[in-house]
Amino acid sequence: FNVPTPINEPILGYAPGSKERELLKAALADARATVIDIPMYIGSEEVFTEQKGKVTPPHDHQHVLANFSKGNKNHVTQAIDAALAAKADWENLAWEHRAAIFLKAADLIAGPYRYKLNAATMLGQSKNAYQAEIDSACELIDFLRFNVSYMSEIYKQQPPVSPKGSWNRLEQRPLEGFVFALTPFNFTAIAGNLPTSVAMMGNVVVWKPANTQIYAANVLMQIFREAGLPDGVINLVYVSGPDAGDVIFSHPDFAGIHFTGSTGVFQDIWKTIGNNIHKFKTYPRIVGETGGKDFILIHGSADPETSSTAIIRGAFEYQGQKCSAASRTYIAKSIWPKVKEYMLRDLATFKMGGTEDFGNFINAVIDEKSFNSLTKYIETAKTDKGVEIIAGGNYDNSKGYFIEPTVLVVDDPKYTTMCEELFGPVLSVYVYDDKDFDKILDVIDTTSIYALTGAVISQDRYAIEKATHRLRNAAGNFYINDKCTGAVVGQQPFGGARGSGTNDKAGSMINLLRWVSPRTIKETF
Ligand code: SER
Repeated sequence: FNVPTPINEPILGYAPGSKERELLKAALADARATVIDIPMYIGSEEVFTEQKGKVTPPHDHQHVLANFSKGNKNHVTQAIDAALAAKADWENLAWEHRAAIFLKAADLIAGPYRYKLNAATMLGQSKNAYQAEIDSACELIDFLRFNVSYMSEIYKQQPPVSPKGSWNRLEQRPLEGFVFALTPFNFTAIAGNLPTSVAMMGNVVVWKPANTQIYAANVLMQIFREAGLPDGVINLVYVSGPDAGDVIFSHPDFAGIHFTGSTGVFQDIWKTIGNNIHKFKTYPRIVGETGGKDFILIHGSADPETSSTAIIRGAFEYQGQKCSAASRTYIAKSIWPKVKEYMLRDLATFKMGGTEDFGNFINAVIDEKSFNSLTKYIETAKTDKGVEIIAGGNYDNSKGYFIEPTVLVVDDPKYTTMCEELFGPVLSVYVYDDKDFDKILDVIDTTSIYALTGAVISQDRYAIEKATHRLRNAAGNFYINDKCTGAVVGQQPFGGARGSGTNDKAGSMINLLRWVSPRTIKETF
């Protein structure tokens, strides 16, 4: 069978007075009007418990959007049991029937659910309309459609050579057991992609989203069910990390983890899996995208306005909370005055506030913990010698967790904020002497433990060549004359190495191949 050739989902504009804006506003108003009760989804059951957690918009933390049911270890066990019970039927279903479910889910998101899911992302994760549209609509639809197409390629792969008198086959089996999907707050598309890319290849899944993502995860689960996903194939639980870990990482049928989150958590999980390795039937697949300390390098030949736009968009869209967000920039002294002028000009126009007001470019950071951590860096920077705050530096958490886009100019390329992952709207700038371009490449490569995204802005081909070559291992996604965020599914497969993950490129055939365990069959005639 051939599946439809995917094309990237067009981004809807939400221009004032447009039909789209009215529909999105109506979805936002609907979501705000009722406090919903969110269950876990285990097998065919919607599971409600006495223990409740609250969902509140990060930009309006006193408003309760929903109460979700918290689970415990028993629920994790039930979810594993439900997954294993669904496994035989699911993996024996012909792949084109599995494909149809995910293609339908994509259509549901592109059509009737688009506004509801975008509204959920805007309220639950504090994304503005554009950021929600490129995430929970376009990127997620693309993940589903492109992955179905890659899946079909995997099943149609060129068979092995069969000399006369024999027939050699390669059977793409699902993994033996269940897979754990652990998803982060910052992208609804990732929440949708991690469990579905695994399930698509015939596997069954236990899915635990970040607590700050439950509101959108609940809508996603409803979409998957409406698309025809059989009960038990993906089970959604809200449990603590230790409760999930204790049960999952000691279960004999644990077959893999699909993870996006922090480097520290991923390393702890890896260690636990290693310590328990004798307990599992198979070596589990460990696939994770973790931290980043993403950079933009501006060469002296760069166009100052292009540079400023790349820096501002890369650093401050979604409050700098994309794993790909620029958080350290290196700018040639000769063009810094111009770049700075454009940056300050544009930053002065940005409005900050709730996502319901479509004029706000900057919204809140995700939660109190993140707010406290980021503001601590800002306060330290205010007193540290050698740091100048040229923009922002103010914050206020009375209504929501708001932090102004903050730019620190540092005189030491190894200053803390040039090395550590901050995950928020705080950008560090180091101005280098134009003649030190080669040295700065070494600094970029050795400053952090991460290697997710990076960019060079330059009009000089030799400089572009040098940076591309020298920074080969410093980023899994490398951009030339563009910002370092906004990878598009099917165009720039996404992922990094070093401390940033296993680089199994989300939204690519490489990723899907991790979720099969091929069997070679030789038949002799
Ligand atoms: N894929 C996103 C980007 O490239 C980050 O997760 O911005």
